[in-house]
Amino acid sequence: MVIEMPTQSDGENRMIKANKRTRFSVAVSVVCALMLLASVPVKAADATNPEADRKAFQAFFFAKFPKVAKDDFANGPYAVNEGMRKQWKEIMEFPPYDPALDEGHTEWDKPFANGKTYADCFDNKGEGIRQTYPRFIAATGQVETLEGAINRCRVENGEKPLNWMTGMMASLTAVMAESSRGKPFDITIPDDPRALAAYERGKEFFYARKGQLGMSCASCHVSPAGERMRGDILAPALGILAAMPIYRSDWGSMGTTIRRISSCSAQTRSLPLEDNGEDYRDLEYFLSYMSNGIAIAGPGTRP
Ligand code: HEC
Repeated sequence: MVIEMPTQSDGENRMIKANKRTRFSVAVSVVCALMLLASVPVKAADATNPEADRKAFQAFFFAKFPKVAKDDFANGPYAVNEGMRKQWKEIMEFPPYDPALDEGHTEWDKPFANGKTYADCFDNKGEGIRQTYPRFIAATGQVETLEGAINRCRVENGEKPLNWMTGMMASLTAVMAESSRGKPFDITIPDDPRALAAYERGKEFFYARKGQLGMSCASCHVSPAGERMRGDILAPALGILAAMPIYRSDWGSMGTTIRRISSCSAQTRSLPLEDNGEDYRDLEYFLSYMSNGIAIAGPGTRP
């Protein structure tokens, strides 16, 4: 006797297939959801974790220059080249920034037309606070540099803003730097998405290849740091702003952080940065944050 096995009807077949498809797509969704869950924290850490960036950045330079003491990174080319260090010691017997300091102190103490002074604009009367600039300002949602704070102080007190690059601005920042000597950079990124975004933009700027030569700040101040480029020894990016403002023999005058960075930006033959533009301020925010822990050594002197 032959027992006829019931054959599956077409309809049943379709249902089985549909069932398989449903099970398959459920499985895919579960896997996707798990991947998503797993990747969210990882992604957040990858995208914006300034503290992890800073640790990796500093570890790179400490490993590259094992003989350079941490705070010596503030001294740029002098920290990484013995020959230059000797010349520097001689120059520093009569520091060429001294006249700027004298001028800056006189200006600092001189009241504005309304009777107020610079000290009235700053925390702790402006003493020993340079290491906390640039700052993220919640009210504007933007980064403010030390120069920006000085010019805002002037404008709010009815005075004209100063030139961002040199002259009195450099003298005043020299006074503020001097009162912060030995205090480690202490830049904060508050828990505000706009602050984090500013940091990210600054970081992107530092690593982005620009201009006719397709170079980034990192192209010259990270891997080749300590090497000779034409007549210069390339300063390591770690601590690179800690000695600002500087007297530079090449200029024959003082210059602010903005002036120094602008001359570098010109070297890459990219469009000049706006004096106090957002891209410039964000870049300074990133670079200063990378140097958290390195002591202020400004004002400085450079070839
Ligand atoms: C083509 C190579 C090159 C590029 C690109 C470059 N720099 Fe420089 N930078 C130099 C040279 C050369 C000097 C002078 C020697 C030194 O101190 O490194 C210098 C000096 C500096 C200094 C002063 C260091 C000190 O201790 O006196 C700062 C700050 C600086 N650069 C920032 C930047 C930033 C920010 C960028 C990107 C916008 C940048 N540089 C891009 C070559 C470069």
